[in-house]
This record gives sequence, structure tokens and C-alpha cells, in this order.
Amino acid sequence: MPYLLIIGAKSDIAKAIANKYAENGYDLYLAARNSKELETFAQDIRVKTDKKVECLELDILDFASHQDFYNNLNEKPEGVASAVGYLGDQTESQKEFNEAQTIINTNYTGVVSLLNVIASNFEARKSGFIIGISSVAGERGRQSNYTYGSAKAALSAYLSGLRNRLTASNVAVITVKPGFVDTQMTEDMDLPKALTATPQQVADDVYNAQVNGKNIIYTRWFWKWIMLIIKTIPEWKFKQLKL
Ligand SMILES: NC(=O)c1ccc[n+]([C@@H]2O[C@H](COP(=O)([O-])OP(=O)(O)OC[C@H]3O[C@@H](n4cnc5c(N)ncnc54)[C@H](OP(=O)(O)O)[C@@H]3O)[C@@H](O)[C@H]2O)c1
Repeated sequence: MPYLLIIGAKSDIAKAIANKYAENGYDLYLAARNSKELETFAQDIRVKTDKKVECLELDILDFASHQDFYNNLNEKPEGVASAVGYLGDQTESQKEFNEAQTIINTNYTGVVSLLNVIASNFEARKSGFIIGISSVAGERGRQSNYTYGSAKAALSAYLSGLRNRLTASNVAVITVKPGFVDTQMTEDMDLPKALTATPQQVADDVYNAQVNGKNIIYTRWFWKWIMLIIKTIPEWKFKQLKL
């Protein structure tokens, strides 16, 4: 059976993706920091689906470890889904460069480091799919989260270029742009219910997009139209808004 490698596997969205792909016949590599903490979750999937599930140690900020991490996978995965992310503290990131660096490296540089390794392998064998979870926050910088948003903008541009490069090698790259999702990342926020997706809804959208050969998706779908409106606000007006 093919493997899906999930990066940032402790995330609520990643866990929903893990369940979805296991139910649809995939074995799983779950890669995370302190991956032992995933063992109960992994065992639950094994019992429910009879699939193989391996928990692997991975720190996305430890760039030097990424080549060995991938080399050490006995069976290379058919696909990879990156759900790693760090919202961080915008105000702190403006004062302490360490915070800005952690936000940028977790959402962007670290993902690039690992996906570069995986992309070369998929390109050489001429098959596979790469799912990158970016964000609508990358579509237009806002004062409340522009360090995070700029890292996600960079990630979206990277995934676009990767897709352009790998299409000729029969490798699909899917950019996922969630709006609000009810997860640990947003637990302290008062999100509007009607606009907030569950991790399960995001996982369903991701799986359907991959199976149906989509390139870029918004999840939930209505974020495409919300972002279209936000992007059309002229800059002279946008800069005056408290967003
Ligand atoms: N929730 C939303 O509203 C929303 C909206 C748009 C996009 N997204 C994106 O969706 C993805 C999943 O996020 P989520 O909402 O499910 O939040 P989450 O539960 O906070 O997931 C983020 C995951 O990234 C992992 N991570 C952080 N730094 C890492 C590192 N150095 N090495 C390895 N793993 C690391 C975290 O692991 P630890 O447990 O070890 O910290 C955590 O499991 C992220 O890319 C996020 O930016 C979320």
C-alpha cells in the first residue's frame, strides 16, 4: 500500500488528514517533534483501519537533519502533506527578531528545506503528490499577523514554482489555503462560527482536491470569494483599515 508522509503530524488538521488517507487505503508516516506523543493516536488508526502507521521524529527547524530523515525512510512515500506551522506573536516578532525568525523558519524555510529533498526524489521517479498547507493570511499583509502572513505568502510562491517545475515529471503540487479553522492554533481566538471550518472539513477538501487533480484550493470554498474582495480593496484604503 502507498505511504503518505505527514509533516507536523500533531496538528489538528494533520490528524484529520491522517484519518482521511488511512480510511482511503494509505499507510502513514507521522512526522513531528516529540513524536512519541502521537503513539496513542497512531494506534487508534491502526486498530480502526488496519493500516501501517509509523511515528517519526522530525524538527522542521533542524534543516541539516532533513536529507537523512528522508534517506532513512525504508519505503518512500507516494505523497507528502505539510501541516507544519507556527502563528507566533506578531507584536513580539516586531521587537524580537528571534520570534520573527521562528515564524519565518517554521512556516517557510524549514518546509522548503524538507520539500526540496522530497521533490527531487519524486521528480526522479516521475510520480507523487505534494500537499502544502499555506494560508489566506499570505494573500495580503495585515498589521495583526504580517510576519506569519509573509512566510505563508513565500510558501505559496514556492509551491507555485514547484508545481511549474514538477508538472513535466508527473508530480502534483497542491496549495491549500485555509481561512479560519478550529484548531489548537486558534483556540484563544474568538472566530466567527459561520466562517470557521472543522479540521475534518479541511481534510475532506484536501483529499478531494488531490484526488481530482486540483492545483490551488481555498478551504472552506467561500474563502476564495472573501479573499477576492479583500484583494480588490485599493491600497490607499486598505492601509487605513485596522485589520
Ligand atoms: N487554524 C487555522 O485557522 C489555520 C488557518 C490557515 C492556515 N493554517 C495552517 O494549517 C496548518 C496546520 O495548523 P493547525 O491549525 O492544525 O495548528 P496546530 O495544531 O498549531 O499545528 C501546527 C503544527 O506544527 C508543528 N510544529 C511547529 N513547529 C515545528 C517544528 N519546529 N518541527 C516540527 N513541527 C512543528 C506543531 O507541533 P508541536 O505540537 O510540536 O508544536 C503543530 O503540530 C499550519 O500550517 C497552519 O499555519 C491554520
